[in-house]
Amino acid sequence: MTQLRPRALHKVPLKTVKVLVIGPGGREHAIVRSLLEDPNVSEVHAAPGNAGISKLVPTHAIDGNNPEAVSALATKLGVDLVVVGPEAPLAAGVSDAVREAGIPVFGPSKEAAQLEASKAFAKQIMAEANVPTAMARVATNADEAADALDTFGAPYVVKDDGLAAGKGVVVTKDRAEALAHAQACFDAGGTVVIEEFLDGPEVSLFVLCDGRTTVPLSPAQDFKRIFDNDEGPNTGGMGAYTPLEWAPEGLVQEVIDRVAQPTVDEMARRGTPFVGVLYCGLALTSRGTRVIEFNVRFGDPETQAVLARLKTPLGALLLAAAKGELDTAEELRWSKNTAVAVVVAAENYPDAPRTGDRIRGLKKVDELDGVHVVHAGTKLDDEGKVVSAGGRVLAVVALGSDLVEAREKAYDGVELVQLEGSQFRTDIGGKAARGEIRVPYTATGTIPKVQA
Ligand code: AMP
Ligand code: GLY
Repeated sequence: MTQLRPRALHKVPLKTVKVLVIGPGGREHAIVRSLLEDPNVSEVHAAPGNAGISKLVPTHAIDGNNPEAVSALATKLGVDLVVVGPEAPLAAGVSDAVREAGIPVFGPSKEAAQLEASKAFAKQIMAEANVPTAMARVATNADEAADALDTFGAPYVVKDDGLAAGKGVVVTKDRAEALAHAQACFDAGGTVVIEEFLDGPEVSLFVLCDGRTTVPLSPAQDFKRIFDNDEGPNTGGMGAYTPLEWAPEGLVQEVIDRVAQPTVDEMARRGTPFVGVLYCGLALTSRGTRVIEFNVRFGDPETQAVLARLKTPLGALLLAAAKGELDTAEELRWSKNTAVAVVVAAENYPDAPRTGDRIRGLKKVDELDGVHVVHAGTKLDDEGKVVSAGGRVLAVVALGSDLVEAREKAYDGVELVQLEGSQFRTDIGGKAARGEIRVPYTATGTIPKVQA
């Protein structure tokens, strides 16, 4: 097992790394921003990007989910590194195509991306690597689903097995609703994973991996439901903050030791090494830390908050991961500030979001001290004006000396954004700022043994 050891400055010479970032969202805008601040990076390109990204770097109108199109663009541009943002291109094999073209890529192979693309596969790896997670059963028909629901009892957790942008999961006390979601997945030709309910606060921990070595970033908390107080349907994520003052000391090391490193080791053992971000979605339950899910890429909008605090040059770090050299990377440095990201979503998100509306006030937000806008579903219209083009339209990201100040600044920014019908949660980081988050266990090393 190899974990990061502190080292001197990374050896990448100044201004030599040319990077192509794949993806259209807020996560990619945040990544592009950080890459531009890296003195090792000479040039950044993006495909397809969004209105915010296209103001910073050249963008290319290709299908980012098409492996051949991405590797052709990367070759044509002569980049030294491709960073793949979203899960869809990873599951489609974009990283494999770029790697075959001889270009280092930050993002797992199609096979390794199964850790996110198939929840059943993720459960299998976790079982083999002895990673603590919710007990689960795969169901392929209504009878099996009913049986599994009754085994675990309420609240019921029913997950579409495939990729669903965070929207394939139903958590409910209503047995009929749980069964109906399972049936809808079966009708669509899929299978479901039914799990025991995990109580306790959730944490997102991003772990950079190069196939062998693991380097954790700073933990964050995401807000998945559309409405305040965690009500309404799940979304891709409505806001985030980092770091987590309330997290037990030693949590990160525990997750590396019990979750990330064993998973990376198991993937390597299988001959499908994991290169990229292993996003550990965790619940801190009364029975210890449990994995809720793995994702194989940076989280959105957590990345907007996490990268706002990262002082270590991002390009050199991702290049080191892509080349299997994370053990030589410099030790991560972080701003002492707290970062909060509040998502502004379109009317009717997450169902059928309204699009095509003018967005005003963004310049005023960027003028606020320590506050910036990260674009997600935006584009430029024929007149070059920024209009909405997706469900989660943008995030306002603020840095403050503590969570209370960062929240105030973020919401000051959100108030300046003008988009008809738009919605946002008013409680991002609210409970934590009021000291109301309770972790059911406090010490480390308390994870009970995983059931066989
Ligand atoms: P997932 O797509 O697996 O991350 O699930 C989306 C969200 O559903 C998670 O962030 C949790 O809020 C919730 N969830 C998923 N699995 C469970 C579980 N076993 N117990 C409680 N909540 C869960
Ligand atoms: N914010 C949750 C995700 O990226 O899946």
